[in-house]
Amino acid sequence: MCGIVGYVGDSEALPILLSSLERLEYRGYDSAGVALIENGEIFVQKEVGKIRELVKSLWGKSSKAHCGIGHTRWATHGVPSFENAHPHLDPSKSFAIVHNGIIENYKELKEELINQGHIFTSQTDTEVIVHLISKYYEGDLLEAVRKTIELLKGAFAFAVITKYEPDRIIGVKQGSPLVIGVGENENFLASDIPAILPYTKQIIVLDDKEIVDITKSSISIYDFDGMIKTKHSMFVPWDIVSAEKSGYKHFMLKEIYEQPRVISDTVRGFLSEGISFPFDIKAINRIVMSACGSSYNASLIGKYLIERYAKIPVEVGYASEQRYEDIPIDENTLFIAISQSGETADTRFAAQYAKDNGAKLLSIVNVVGSSLDRESDYTLYTHAGPEIGVAATKTFTAQIAVLYGLAAFMGYERGSMTYEEYSNKIDKLAHIPSKIEDFLQNTDLNGGVYSELSSAKNAIYLGRGLSFPIALEGALKLKEISYIHAEGYAAGEMKHGPIALIDENMPVVFIAPKDKLYEKAISNIEEVLARKAKLIVIGNASDQHLKDISKHFIGIPDLDEEDLYPILSVVPLQLIAYEVANRLGLDVDQPRNLAKTVTVE
Ligand code: G6P
Repeated sequence: MCGIVGYVGDSEALPILLSSLERLEYRGYDSAGVALIENGEIFVQKEVGKIRELVKSLWGKSSKAHCGIGHTRWATHGVPSFENAHPHLDPSKSFAIVHNGIIENYKELKEELINQGHIFTSQTDTEVIVHLISKYYEGDLLEAVRKTIELLKGAFAFAVITKYEPDRIIGVKQGSPLVIGVGENENFLASDIPAILPYTKQIIVLDDKEIVDITKSSISIYDFDGMIKTKHSMFVPWDIVSAEKSGYKHFMLKEIYEQPRVISDTVRGFLSEGISFPFDIKAINRIVMSACGSSYNASLIGKYLIERYAKIPVEVGYASEQRYEDIPIDENTLFIAISQSGETADTRFAAQYAKDNGAKLLSIVNVVGSSLDRESDYTLYTHAGPEIGVAATKTFTAQIAVLYGLAAFMGYERGSMTYEEYSNKIDKLAHIPSKIEDFLQNTDLNGGVYSELSSAKNAIYLGRGLSFPIALEGALKLKEISYIHAEGYAAGEMKHGPIALIDENMPVVFIAPKDKLYEKAISNIEEVLARKAKLIVIGNASDQHLKDISKHFIGIPDLDEEDLYPILSVVPLQLIAYEVANRLGLDVDQPRNLAKTVTVE
């Protein structure tokens, strides 16, 4: 999704903006640009394609500008093109804007402006904002922005500069994320924290309906009614190394290998932070879980575990669907929103709907201080650090770890589990990092699996019980980054359709750990074998039978807690997707058309 950066301070703005933009690349984008205030004029440079194209086009340019804004664009209104790339200027070229989000009423506003003689050069909704700001400008940028946002509908964040006030940036947040980096004789603005992490770890996270007025030595925050707000910065403990590749070829690979540490940190965080619900968990009679993408797949695992341990009925839905359904929700409903970024628009809106209808809102997020975190009654954190690869890996397994702990805790609190049973579950969870480590260090995934899949046009992933969401996640990983069509199914459902697709050319990836549905899985595997599919099995390394019957077998360590197999069995699927995409020479970390954080509906 679009990314915004801004800088004002003693240093030269251009290199800071370009390097901050590079750290926003992971969000997904199709064009990039910068605007600087130089010698009393606004200089703009933008390019379609990667930031390196932008950097190339700026080669040799020496800029003494100390104030500027930058942008990575992920097309929503208008195709990826030079005209539609940001920053956008007003007709007099005195104001420049970068914007993330959608202005829902831009067509009406644009029509009005056209009737007043304004000429537009792009198809974007963004251009409307900068035209309005220039129209309302009477010597104070903040005032002009205030008048403009009164007219705007939608979810957005933007940053604007003007040549008339060369040391000032005004930022606005309403729905899309925006953070301020606090420096000495310099301040920063960005869509997320990693972008500005090398420069400062003192961060102020803006809330919705806030405007920030930034100079090199001051930061003033106002609400939309013009009231000044006092906000304190927080210290972000992430180091820049956690947002760098550290010798790995891709962020995704690094993040896969980080999983043992991430699960340890998440379990430690879970234990030290504890759980103390700000509501009566015994009064909850129904749970609704909501998420998108990989977080949705994690929610399905959460459903199985919560129903098993806490005996509460759980419904799971795609956030984008739930927000338009009239799902029955009341004050005895617990709504659990799961989101790595805490900024996914659909998940936030679904959560808001639930809250408005009286539900208690619990979130599981990775980004502390994200919108969902702040909007929730209660938050549990995955301590995964910044995840840069678009395809979720370490945050997915960290979500499962939190859901497992949460389900067990709910079981204990509601009396369906003793304290000993609960703490026994947590002990088992604490052993998982060494099992993942063991797998990562000792397994040499055979090359045959990769060539099997990289030459395929389609693949089917199957699993039962807790392995069904893992089949969905494995298929999602493959299609996201290798562009090979892959579908995940509940293995028992295979005979109701997908089996028609299975022949000797179809790779079938089956997840079959030794859990309570193992025997059932074996029957389904027989059905697959009878159709001569290219069978790839993820099973226990000790399972000789599976090894014998599969074309390709990937062994995972034995666990004495079968409910934890999902955390382990997804790791080979992540590696398979990674290596297939890598062999196909694809852009693993920034797959086409995808964004890391989807802040629009
Ligand atoms: C995008 C990302 C996925 C992610 C999904 C949900 O589609 O590409 O990797 O799973 O959003 O994101 P969230 O931040 O809400 O977990």
